[in-house]
Amino acid sequence: MKFTDDQLEAGRILFAGEVNFERGVVSMDSLPAGDLPEVAFAGRSNVGKSSLVNALTGRKALARASVEPGRTRELNYFRVGEVLRIVDLPGYGYAKAPKAEIARWTGLTRDFLRGRAELKRVMLLIDSRHGVKETDLEVMKTLDTAAVIYQVVLTKSDKLKPTELEDCIARTADVIKKRPAAHPDIIATSSETGAGIDMLRAEIAVLAS
Ligand code: GTP
Ligand code: MG
Repeated sequence: MKFTDDQLEAGRILFAGEVNFERGVVSMDSLPAGDLPEVAFAGRSNVGKSSLVNALTGRKALARASVEPGRTRELNYFRVGEVLRIVDLPGYGYAKAPKAEIARWTGLTRDFLRGRAELKRVMLLIDSRHGVKETDLEVMKTLDTAAVIYQVVLTKSDKLKPTELEDCIARTADVIKKRPAAHPDIIATSSETGAGIDMLRAEIAVLAS
């Protein structure tokens, strides 16, 4: 999707303002009051969710990112001005933590994705080097069933050549085209170079207004 200059500017202004960590949620009964729209960042472990939250907000260490998969183990809420909350979710598909721990955080993430009325959109992050995996399809199915709109955001685009990235976008578009709750626009990003971050900000600003 092509954004107008006004929309890009609205996105820039939204994230140039105050963004604060609000709370880490470990159970469905400690979610914040549902007084603002929410946009969540979901995806496989290590795909770059926390890094993307940092890139969006232009703050290096707002969300804790790590080379170690399985870093984020709570639903981390960030408040964007007075208009929006973004939620950095734990990753799925990570197998190197104690089973009970993984079950707790994946169960919580799934309950949240299925049942949060304030959730306006899920940004479903896919590593552009790897494409859509089986676990991503399972999450898509959950969101299709719950009628929660999700939008694919490709991450780590700096790792690919332009033609490879085009290929990945085309293949991903093919996977999502018949999925009922998938938003058709795919945004390719790099938290490293900042590519696509302005588009993602603009997309989110539309949801906040
Ligand atoms: P979990 O919380 O464990 O699910 O991981 P996450 O999805 O939050 O990933 P995180 O942001 O912690 O990043 C994982 C690794 O990928 C880190 O080493 C990051 O530096 C790296 N990374 C994230 N985004 C990018 C990117 O755009 N480009 C490159 N080259 N590396 C990235
Ligand atoms: Mg994380």
